[in-house]
Amino acid sequence: MEVLRTISALRARLKGEGGVAFVPTMGNLHQGHLELMRIAREHAGCVVASLFVNRLQFGQGEDFDRYPRTFDEDCEKLGKAGVDVLFAPEEAELYPVLQEVTVNLPPIAEELCGASRPGHFRGMATVVLKLFNIVQPHYAVFGKKDCQQLHLVRKMVSQLDLPIAIVAGETVREADGLAMSSRNRYLTEAERLEAPRLHYNLEKVLLALAAGERDFRRLETEARQDLANRGWKVDYLEVREAESLARPGFSEPKLVVLGAAWLGKTRLIDNLEMNGF
Ligand code: PAF
Repeated sequence: MEVLRTISALRARLKGEGGVAFVPTMGNLHQGHLELMRIAREHAGCVVASLFVNRLQFGQGEDFDRYPRTFDEDCEKLGKAGVDVLFAPEEAELYPVLQEVTVNLPPIAEELCGASRPGHFRGMATVVLKLFNIVQPHYAVFGKKDCQQLHLVRKMVSQLDLPIAIVAGETVREADGLAMSSRNRYLTEAERLEAPRLHYNLEKVLLALAAGERDFRRLETEARQDLANRGWKVDYLEVREAESLARPGFSEPKLVVLGAAWLGKTRLIDNLEMNGF
């Protein structure tokens, strides 16, 4: 695997490549990321990953400084996963001057995770658009665990006419249901045992929906209450339409249950789609 640090070196390396599939990451890679690399390999002859902890998508007081940076382990994993090129720029390479031009997203970016992380999705979309322009991939692979991120990246690609096919990878889970995440490593031993409770509650709501229950508010309140009773601080736990992420109307659209909650100092997110049943 080639590790490239500059935009010019990456562009030179990718010149003339027939098909490029791209997986952007912030590092501290786990099985979920490696699954995205595997999917990328199915789509193109050249797989490019990026590793960049993007300051722009972290709010004040968030975990930018303590975000786990595990470059050597990440390189080893990516090499073994058959990634061809890793783009790992320094901050000054991507942001040589104050980034004043940013991506303006639709109002849904202010809901769900956006409500408690103002500006997060603008920062995410801005770096993803920059990376897309740098790598110019034919395919880009994103995990379904970050459901709202995936939704917004798809919207950006579609409304800005980017010639990139977005491919979604399923959430990879630990044996007890906990969605794999770089932030799981912040959990204490006791918190790690408690952490699958978020998935448990999402699944409970989904089972009720699958059984025909449509009192969304009651289901959401019960799930939130269960987590709160066990010491979680819930940001949101909501049933939404899977396509638009809007509040469900009267028709019978595909549904998704999404949740984000704090367990001690760690914020976990997860979601489940109705068609999983
Ligand atoms: O999902 C992530 O790890 C990040 O939001 C991404 C897409 C790499 C942009 O920084």
